[in-house]
Amino acid sequence: MKTVISTDVDAAVELLLKGEVVALPTETVYGLAADALSSEAVAKIFEAKQRPRFDPLIVHLPDIQWLERVTDVSTFNQDLLLKLVERFWPGPFTIVLPKTHLIPDIVTAGLDTVAVRISAHPSFISVIHRLDRPLAAPSANQFGRVSPTAASHVHDELAGRIPLILDGGATTHGIESTIVAMNDGAIEVLRRGPVTDDELRAFAPADQLRFSSGETIQAPGQLPSHYAPRKPVQLIGRAEQYTGDAKTAGLLAWHEVQTADQFAAVRELSRKQDLGEAAANLFRFLRELDATKAVRLILAEEVPDRGLGAAIMDRLGRAAYKNRSR
Ligand code: TXA
Ligand code: MG
Repeated sequence: MKTVISTDVDAAVELLLKGEVVALPTETVYGLAADALSSEAVAKIFEAKQRPRFDPLIVHLPDIQWLERVTDVSTFNQDLLLKLVERFWPGPFTIVLPKTHLIPDIVTAGLDTVAVRISAHPSFISVIHRLDRPLAAPSANQFGRVSPTAASHVHDELAGRIPLILDGGATTHGIESTIVAMNDGAIEVLRRGPVTDDELRAFAPADQLRFSSGETIQAPGQLPSHYAPRKPVQLIGRAEQYTGDAKTAGLLAWHEVQTADQFAAVRELSRKQDLGEAAANLFRFLRELDATKAVRLILAEEVPDRGLGAAIMDRLGRAAYKNRSR
């Protein structure tokens, strides 16, 4: 199959109507989309990504009216739900809610809950408004790998497996949406993302904001070795502390690096130490270092574990996990 990169919204809509998969830009990362109400179309997402069937997908809604069609919130703290939705939609925020029969089981991997969000990306919005149907769309990478933040990344991951990548340029946030589940008045953060803990604190008293331990895995984004480049990743406080062979190491830097010329390659997450800019650059830089021949090990400097930094550290920790036992 030939994979085309284009800005042709009509072509994307046409393919999706035919039950095909199409990669679409969102404000977080690129997604691999298919008609969420068609089991056959959704099956193609799992095939293209080589994603295990036990891993449920996020469903993107055209608008808020679709929320009550695909989820059953009758027994819920609707007041809190509406407040969250008003504040964070459209945007990088996903909510896990009980599903209705409209959502096929393949989408949720048999769970009786579905993860839903509304994207704010203009290209995504044009496509989904024209379809007026929900789109299932996980990140458009091979399972377990780094999420794509540009059309060319999707091409690197899935060329030959999908017909079209809709090019919307580089994504704004650069990391996947924040995922929460709700239990009565409590908000449980299943995956940290662009909507930070502090922003959520405004909606729940301290004892009602919880973070999944990862012991019972609800989201495979919580699997310890997710978001991994091919090369090993090692976390380090500061580059200067590294005592190994810098000539074969690629550095993902947070601090200003005095010894930059000693490393095989260096990428600075944000010269002005802005966590938003760092998040937006994170996956692109990991990919670039992964693709640099001289690099055998990716050294990632820790970023401050606050605000967006917590979401970045979460991704880096999982990327580094495979390397831990070495
Ligand atoms: O920003 C994003 O969320 C991107 C864009 C494309 O929307 N999507 C994304 O999808 O990151 P994906 O499939 O890579 O990650 C979705 C995560 C998975 O870890 C999945 O297990 C979890 O959401 N998930 C989906 N449905 C769930 C459910 N019913 N309960 C708990 N977790 C769920
Ligand atoms: Mg993913």
